[in-house]
Amino acid sequence: MASKPEQLAPYPNIFNMQVDFPELIQHVKPRLEYGKKNRLFSKLLPYIFLKRIENQHQLFFGGHGNSFPNVHIDEFWVHTQLTQIIGKKEFILYAPDQSQYMYPDQKSSRKSQVNNIHNPDLENFPLFKNARALKVIVHPGESIFIPSGWWHTTYIHDFNLSFSLDHVNEFNWEVFMLNNYEEIKINHPKFAWIALFYSRIGKYLFNITESLFYKFKN
Ligand SMILES: [Fe+2]
Repeated sequence: MASKPEQLAPYPNIFNMQVDFPELIQHVKPRLEYGKKNRLFSKLLPYIFLKRIENQHQLFFGGHGNSFPNVHIDEFWVHTQLTQIIGKKEFILYAPDQSQYMYPDQKSSRKSQVNNIHNPDLENFPLFKNARALKVIVHPGESIFIPSGWWHTTYIHDFNLSFSLDHVNEFNWEVFMLNNYEEIKINHPKFAWIALFYSRIGKYLFNITESLFYKFKN
């Protein structure tokens, strides 16, 4: 049965391409220019950090009227490239300087408590009315790049298939590693310092390696 605004299909339906369709990953090209320095695909990134976000290639299925359940910043503060394959998807984005109006959840500061942005609860979240949104519709064959730290949610206008890819590069390296540190601290507090240590070492290691690679390549 097709999803309709008055009778919504469950959403999001996310598939992990590494697990569900590994044979398709080789067809994900060309990569965005920014993606060429994606540290998530570097052998210099220890597996322990990569493993924590092991779903870097995702396929999203959705139908008319589906909306992402919350306004959020992506996990581990990754950048995200999303490419539309079938159908149009509307993105509603809020720049990091709008965080003061977003009412982050106390348990997860990446999630806004204002879930229904089309009909926000202004009694409980009065400052949200000041939030400036940027809206864009992404069509099949088009990609959107959502920088680390941008709040966002989506609305789907018709049957929809999207591909998304996580990115870590020099611009979000420190916040990505800080999130790793905070996560490891919860379950393995004795080893959390490794994340802080590698954050410093990795910063120089990646910067030098990337600049050498691109120098010889160009
Ligand atoms: Fe997201």
